[in-house]
Amino acid sequence: MATANQIKALIKSHLEGDPERFKTIALQVAAHEARLGHGAIAQEIKQLIDKGAKQSAKVFPMRKDLDDLVIQTDPESRLSQLVLPQALKERIERILREYLQRSKLQKFGHSNRRKILLVGPPGTGKTLTASVIASELHLPLFTILVDKLVTRYMGETSAKLRQIFDLIQERQGIYLFDEFDAIGGERSRDNDVGEMRRVLNAFLQFIEQDTSESFIIAATNSADLLDQALFRRFDDLLSYKLPEKAQIIRLIENRLGNFGGEFIVESIVDQVEGLSHAEITLASDDAIKEAILSDQEKVSKQLFLATINDRKQYLQYSK
Ligand SMILES: Nc1ncnc2c1ncn2[C@@H]1O[C@H](COP(=O)(O)OP(=O)(O)OP(=O)(O)O)[C@@H](O)[C@H]1O
Ligand SMILES: [Mg+2]
Repeated sequence: MATANQIKALIKSHLEGDPERFKTIALQVAAHEARLGHGAIAQEIKQLIDKGAKQSAKVFPMRKDLDDLVIQTDPESRLSQLVLPQALKERIERILREYLQRSKLQKFGHSNRRKILLVGPPGTGKTLTASVIASELHLPLFTILVDKLVTRYMGETSAKLRQIFDLIQERQGIYLFDEFDAIGGERSRDNDVGEMRRVLNAFLQFIEQDTSESFIIAATNSADLLDQALFRRFDDLLSYKLPEKAQIIRLIENRLGNFGGEFIVESIVDQVEGLSHAEITLASDDAIKEAILSDQEKVSKQLFLATINDRKQYLQYSK
């Protein structure tokens, strides 16, 4: 049994948030037990310490200098959730496959695709794709708030970018530069004497020099806004579009799940066309909620069309 002093020291190190000291004392307790001939207990304590080390290695505290600009998450989105044209899905699968077999590629002097530009209208799955890549490859997702980086740190944006690229090197993960046009905008359109141009130049230089094992994913609504010099710095460009009929059907069927089946989704596709994946997802969720509240087991065609019309009206107001 651990001595009273060891127990006190364990409690103290825990309260003081000192994991290193906690671990040292726990190892001392294990050694003490082993000396007393309690081999099994000693072994069990060591295993617990190992398990703790593995778990805490997953969740790093964010660097203080970046904690308002970079958000770390561990998404659980699956590839099967993404509803996209087959060709686009295959490009995402290729990114995953190249990463999983990167050492094979490296042997022949090639590297896996990991600098990726996502372009497309709002709500078509760009952020979801970054989450899927993170989750399928068991890597953390770091989302960089590009808007904030540019507005809050005006004048020191390039220095902040450097810190972000240091992090990219230090901690392997998926780095998503969302709303990327805030830094990727064409240099010539810059009215703001030089600052934005310097930022874009810094980004171009950092991304070119980056040899990390992380993914750098930039997402934007419009490729037209991006500076031409950017395109060749990325290994791949994935282009997202509003869903076509086949995808609309799949999205609604997936989302309605057990609440579907009351009507043939194909019969309402025409009324849904023009909405994004995100809007269709929201309309499906609205329909499910309405069905639950009115004690219906399935979503009826009438109810579904009503929620679709609601979404359309909402969109008109928000434009
Ligand atoms: N291709 C898709 N397949 C399945 N669900 C989707 C798809 N696209 C969007 N969704 C649904 O809509 C939600 C929002 O989509 P997401 O955030 O990925 O859009 P986005 O393209 O990043 O939009 P924005 O340009 O506004 O950032 C997702 O969490 C998901 O529920
Ligand atoms: Mg997004």
